[in-house]
Amino acid sequence: MPGYLDPTLPTQERVADLLGRMTLPEKVGQLLQLDAQGDLDDLVTVKNVGSLLHIPPDRMVRAIELAAATRLGIPLLLADDCIHGHSFWPGATIFGTQLAMACSWNPGNAHRAARITAVEATSTGFRWTFSPVLCIARDLRWGRVDETFGEDPFLIGEFASAMVAGYQGDGLTDPTAMLATAKHFAGYSETQGGRDASEADISRRKLRSWFTPPFERVAREGCRTFMIGYQSMDGVPITANSWLLNDVLKDEWGFSGVLVTDWDNVGRMVWEQKVCADHAEAAARALNAGNDLVMTTPQFYEGAQEAVRRGLLTEATIDAAVARVLALKFDLGLFEDPGAPDPERQRAVIGCAEHRQANLEIARESLVLLANNPPAGPGQAPLLPLAAAAGTIAVIGPNADAAGTQLGDWAGGSGQCSWLGPDYVPEDVVTVLAGLREVASGHGWQVTYARGCGIVTMSPHPDGPTGPDGQPRMPLITPVPPDEADLAEAVAAAEAADVVVLVLGDNVLLTGEGRSTATLELQGGQRELWRRVAATGTPVVLVLVNGKPLVLPQDLLARTAAIVEAFNPGAMGGRAVAELLFGEIEPSGRLPISFPVHVGQQPTYYNELRGQHGDRYADLTQEPAFAFGFGLSYSRVEYSGLHMAEPTLRVDGTIRARVRVANTGDRPVTETVQWYLRDLVTSLTWADKELKGYRRVALAPGEAAEVSFELPAAACTIVDADARRVAEPGDFELLVGPDSRDDSLLAARFTLVT
Ligand code: NOJ
Repeated sequence: MPGYLDPTLPTQERVADLLGRMTLPEKVGQLLQLDAQGDLDDLVTVKNVGSLLHIPPDRMVRAIELAAATRLGIPLLLADDCIHGHSFWPGATIFGTQLAMACSWNPGNAHRAARITAVEATSTGFRWTFSPVLCIARDLRWGRVDETFGEDPFLIGEFASAMVAGYQGDGLTDPTAMLATAKHFAGYSETQGGRDASEADISRRKLRSWFTPPFERVAREGCRTFMIGYQSMDGVPITANSWLLNDVLKDEWGFSGVLVTDWDNVGRMVWEQKVCADHAEAAARALNAGNDLVMTTPQFYEGAQEAVRRGLLTEATIDAAVARVLALKFDLGLFEDPGAPDPERQRAVIGCAEHRQANLEIARESLVLLANNPPAGPGQAPLLPLAAAAGTIAVIGPNADAAGTQLGDWAGGSGQCSWLGPDYVPEDVVTVLAGLREVASGHGWQVTYARGCGIVTMSPHPDGPTGPDGQPRMPLITPVPPDEADLAEAVAAAEAADVVVLVLGDNVLLTGEGRSTATLELQGGQRELWRRVAATGTPVVLVLVNGKPLVLPQDLLARTAAIVEAFNPGAMGGRAVAELLFGEIEPSGRLPISFPVHVGQQPTYYNELRGQHGDRYADLTQEPAFAFGFGLSYSRVEYSGLHMAEPTLRVDGTIRARVRVANTGDRPVTETVQWYLRDLVTSLTWADKELKGYRRVALAPGEAAEVSFELPAAACTIVDADARRVAEPGDFELLVGPDSRDDSLLAARFTLVT
């Protein structure tokens, strides 16, 4: 038996043995990841690809068999975008998006969703998912806000760490373990004008300050793969950024896993960014900069070999990258078990009742109550939870029964998956309408329904359906104008009801890669629908089902009793919304991202740098409509007595503090106690405050708790002009409260000494 097939040998010995047997074309093939919807025989047998992505269910077994029959029988790394569930598998459990999950401020939910996804996806043959996204969402016009955990690096780090651990499980030899991917490394989200993959205007200092910390955390914790973004920074395509990929990721953070490019990044350096004359140059630049696996650039196969012939690339560099790819395959145990789909396991786990229940529990914690006012005026009871006295609910709006929107992007029907088709919608989605029908009857309420209006429609792109990179071109999106008959039907339903549940938002045509929006307004007939329904005088609960924060007209907000933000809450989201409206569960979510008042305020994130003339536009506030960290409960919570153990601390010391948190209302709460730091004087301009920790605390009605917490004084850092993280002695404020607004926070001052 050749040494590399001996499972008793250590990985590095097996890698060395196998490398020694490989030809240059076989090595280059191992560095190529191509789309499995092409000619499988050509991909596996001729191009020797090391990895395939987006494998249709009926091609998985064939792909594995073809690889086994190659000269050296090197198994494939089979990868997919299992982004919030096994996205492209019929019947799989589809969770809420990362943004929805982040609203729970409970990283355990991300861990649980990732574990379930790994269990379902590995039963179908996939051992690698391109998830999670660690990008910071700052410009809300960007189309991929829904894929992020929001705007704060600390919160992103908490969720990313949990999600990676959930995918990778107890170790890669566990057959339900999946490789996680930290993406898109790094700075991809810092778009200009929200335009996808534009040049990111971002310095090394800024990267180190906010964009790389979540990546550093998961790299050090053992995330086995990273994917780079698409953008350039300071003229350098990320694909060629040797400083970031080699010096920072590999050398400084010790990342020894596999670094994969994004879709055709190597080709983009030729046809899009035009920094390389041909694919040989591009292949050399990409590998010399530290990339290991090249996604969907078929020309890389010839290009890399040509680069060796021209002396642009050494075989030693290729060997080092191949060694990393092979090590992953050995560590996953693929040479012993290439991971063929297991129909019996699939029947047991995919979309099973236990996973569905977990999905519901996660969705319940992902809802954020943004407003809850008394419809009858001040001093009266708030509208929610709906009163015990039965009545009629008119469920109105284009997202009330929109299963596809409820799942959001990366869920079969969202366009990336040819075998399910754009109209595919899983059968098991409980929409808001379906959820209310299920729950309302138990409370004696009737439910009526009128869709009221449309949102947007699409027409083909005039330049053809596919772009030069082989990816689908974004279709043209146009708003659906309001229709008088539909509006009249909705108004009649509202007039005949005791409460309107108005479900508005966006849809997958306005969300996703290449689908940035210039505006953040409610599209189509939605504003007119809201206006007409509000004019009936029937109290309105607005439920938002949407991929990213939207701009909500202030005059209509003032006439709306309650608002629930659901983002894309997943297959069980509608049930969770219904339970919340009827008070079967308590609202506990908090915003991981700020809502603007107007698109022209972009960006509106809470931890902006200090220093500008004034604090508002001449014609508009700079304040957000709803701030980072904000969310209401059905009870009242009061904070008092913030106390710091020591007012003076050394930089190697620990901040110890406590605060009293009291539930003074008559419903239980899960309160998210948040703590921020403010460095009062910094040698360089810095964020006015930054989230450093939080705790979710359950309090019964009338219960109070002393919440104490510790924070290393090392958290009191800024990043200096040389992009080094340093603690500067001086005065600080510890800020504690229910959200990020100054008015909500108690402050305690302390001094940091050397
Ligand atoms: C491009 C996207 O940017 C990335 O997030 C995704 O994982 C790959 N395509 C593969 O589908």
